[in-house]
Amino acid sequence: MSDATRAFYGRWARLYDVLATLPGVSSWRESAAGELGLARGDLAVEMGCGTGANLPHLRERVGPDGRVVGLDVTREMLERARGRGDADLLQADAARPPLSEPVDGLLGTFVVAMFTDPGAVVDRWCDLVRPSGRVALLHFTRSERAWARPVNAGYRAFVWLSSTDKSRVRDVASSHDRRVDAGLEALAARTTDYRERTLAGGYLRLASGQVT
Ligand SMILES: C[S@@+](CC[C@H](N)C(=O)[O-])C[C@H]1O[C@@H](n2cnc3c(N)ncnc32)[C@H](O)[C@@H]1O
Repeated sequence: MSDATRAFYGRWARLYDVLATLPGVSSWRESAAGELGLARGDLAVEMGCGTGANLPHLRERVGPDGRVVGLDVTREMLERARGRGDADLLQADAARPPLSEPVDGLLGTFVVAMFTDPGAVVDRWCDLVRPSGRVALLHFTRSERAWARPVNAGYRAFVWLSSTDKSRVRDVASSHDRRVDAGLEALAARTTDYRERTLAGGYLRLASGQVT
């Protein structure tokens, strides 16, 4: 985890929150939370929860007797998450999460590509989940659809703008996509019924699986 990440999200927390809670985005979040198959009373954890836009979707599923934990490294993002989904918020590094209780459902949205070794991080996340619990990961990706080819230039610009390590990486969009691939491969390796689908015209990959 780099200081650049904290500085970037600290500076842009307010704008990020506006974008993260746009009405259209909520249906993606709903789909991602749905992949966890949570039940009332469960423990749901979100890694890199940002301003907490997913937390109400998790709370809705675990009910008042369940527990929702949002973990993020950036204080300013967590300040905006306060009150959302009645969650316990932890400022910590998601690469080394300080959690000991078995987790029923673990969510990561738009975060896996931020790790230098996403495969190792996802593997560690799977270790935290009880057998038969689920992990769901949602990410932007380049669309493979024919109509999207001209729009992919916009995608590359979007990824570049939102990247916290553009000074260190030459092709930011390709590096982002490779990291997402590595995270999803690790998830596929650790789960029994790994499944993946695209949303938003192919610009989002939603993957999930049941931990063995
Ligand atoms: C693109 S935002 C996604 C936020 C949220 N998941 C969402 O869907 O709106 C990425 C978030 O990951 C957090 N983050 C990045 N690296 C992290 C790390 N190593 N540990 C915990 N959080 C991290 C950032 O602070 C930021 O809030």
